[in-house]
Amino acid sequence: MWKIVLSLLCVCYHVQSARYLGLFPVATGSHYILDFKLMKALADAGHDVTFVSPRKQEKPLKTKGNFTDIELEGFAEAIQKGMAEFNLFDVNKQNFVNVIRTLMNLFVESANLTMHHPKITQLLNSNETYDAVVMEHFQNDVLKVFSSVFNCPLIILSTVGPNSWVNPAIGNPNEISYVRHFHAAGNPAEPMTLVERTKNLFIYIVDYLMTFHYSLPQHQKIMESVIKNPPNIVDLYFNASLILLNSHTSIYAPQPLVPSMVEIGGYHIDPPKKLPQDMQDFLDSANDGVVYFSMGSNLKSKDMPEDRKKIFLNVLGRLKQKVIWKFEEDLPGKPSNILIKKWLPQQDILAHPNVRLFITHGGLLSTTETIYHGVPILVIPVFGDQPANAERAQYAGYALKLDYHGNNFTEERLSYLINELLNNPKYRENVQHRSKLFHDRPMNPKDTAVYWMEYVVRNNGARHLRVGGINIPWYQYYLVDVMLLLTLMLSLLLYVVIIIIRILYRKLGSKVHPVVKLKKH
Ligand SMILES: *[C@@H]1O[C@H](CO)[C@@H](O)[C@H](O)[C@H]1NC(C)=O
Ligand SMILES: *[C@@H]1O[C@H](CO)[C@@H](O)[C@H](O)[C@H]1NC(C)=O
Ligand SMILES: *[C@@H]1O[C@H](CO)[C@@H](O)[C@H](O)[C@H]1NC(C)=O
Ligand SMILES: *[C@@H]1O[C@H](CO)[C@@H](O)[C@H](O)[C@H]1NC(C)=O
Ligand SMILES: *[C@@H]1O[C@H](CO)[C@@H](O)[C@H](O)[C@H]1NC(C)=O
Repeated sequence: MWKIVLSLLCVCYHVQSARYLGLFPVATGSHYILDFKLMKALADAGHDVTFVSPRKQEKPLKTKGNFTDIELEGFAEAIQKGMAEFNLFDVNKQNFVNVIRTLMNLFVESANLTMHHPKITQLLNSNETYDAVVMEHFQNDVLKVFSSVFNCPLIILSTVGPNSWVNPAIGNPNEISYVRHFHAAGNPAEPMTLVERTKNLFIYIVDYLMTFHYSLPQHQKIMESVIKNPPNIVDLYFNASLILLNSHTSIYAPQPLVPSMVEIGGYHIDPPKKLPQDMQDFLDSANDGVVYFSMGSNLKSKDMPEDRKKIFLNVLGRLKQKVIWKFEEDLPGKPSNILIKKWLPQQDILAHPNVRLFITHGGLLSTTETIYHGVPILVIPVFGDQPANAERAQYAGYALKLDYHGNNFTEERLSYLINELLNNPKYRENVQHRSKLFHDRPMNPKDTAVYWMEYVVRNNGARHLRVGGINIPWYQYYLVDVMLLLTLMLSLLLYVVIIIIRILYRKLGSKVHPVVKLKKH
């Protein structure tokens, strides 16, 4: 009996184990964490995973299925050089058409580098077989050709919610009337005025046109330079089977999603582990609570100007709470309530019940983790998506923000905000509420991600989920042709009515209105 059960189990296991190719050439910083965790989840579930990225895990992973790293050497450095020329700090001040074009050029260049990398060439010419290709969408459309080469479904990861980059690819509506394009100015949490909505529409249109007439043709060229008989890039663009979104209604405002878009926000978070003993003691003994302060991995606290450091030291030193600060060097004159460390297990700290406040740069991972653990935040946004994340969190009522570059960055203001967050219970209530919503799902986000990636393989690309809107041109999708037809008919009707009125006036003769008389000359 047991033998039968066991062999049945083996058969099931064997049938379900699939081969996934993960292509993540732009995987740096938080993107690397998100991309790696997604592919590792597949390997943990017993699948055979090949992970292409600019980095390599230091130690071989212990996963149920095979996890093979393919490291694109020299790639990260080349991209870093490209990024350095593109100043992230003043993106918001530039004209959005320039920003879109600069970004597209940057991504075309990096896609070109990827496709000409010897290891990619080797992969393209190998006799490997894969059951699905997984990639992060980053205007790297040429990579979609791998699903054509290996004749298998394409799965896309979007590290944010639905957006103008991924919506058209799967027939999801761009909600232009209430979702700001990420190049549109203004608070993403607030409704738009008439003028803002008009601008928003304009940005969406420019972005769409530039994708199809500027970016994709270049990706087609790259593809033609490395592949014999390449498919059409536009066909590839519309061919994805599934888009996984790193979002959730507990973090982002809800938006309609077509069935082949699935939210998996928070999948990168592992259940809390045990803390190192010194930190455990420090946190356990903090009767007045703990403030945790980290500006993430990109922005080093030690690189802050001296006056900023002094402001932080003065304010944090005066608190009755203990403070854990991710700080990368020695800090002379450090007050006794502050513990500094180069590296900190962020999630395990946030999980400790004594943590009252998290001071963060507001990166997407940090804002997600704080909701998971239910800790209010003071956001000090620096660049990129951080200001928008800060606005969203403040609007949702579990955060206050202090612009790193703003004039308001003073000792008084910082002290006021920290004390407000520590002493007013509403911030904690709001974030605990969100935390409850975060965890209230039919399946945890990591299992959801694995389930859907398996689903696509099990059902041969899940073509039945694709909405009809993918295959029709934009003017039909948005009924622009119908609007034009109706406008034309209305104009005709109006014209006919005017003619009739004129004829009637003429017939009435003597009673002609003076204005009409004038016009007759
Ligand atoms: C993992 O790799 C080994 C050695 O290359 C191979 O024998 C085995 O079949 C692989 N496992 C899976 C699940 O593909
Ligand atoms: C891609 O790079 C090659 C050189 O490696 C260059 O000749 C080609 O023009 C580039 N293509 C695009 C579209 O930038
Ligand atoms: C792939 O298979 C073909 C035909 O079986 C063979 O000629 C070729 O050498 C193989 N290529 C590689 C990289 O193994
Ligand atoms: C579209 O995806 C299917 C699998 O879902 C794949 O077999 C096919 O080759 C893809 N088409 C193109 C043009 O790449
Ligand atoms: C700047 O600080 C003042 C109080 O000092 C506050 O009223 C104002 O809203 C702050 N401005 C910003 C942009 O945060």
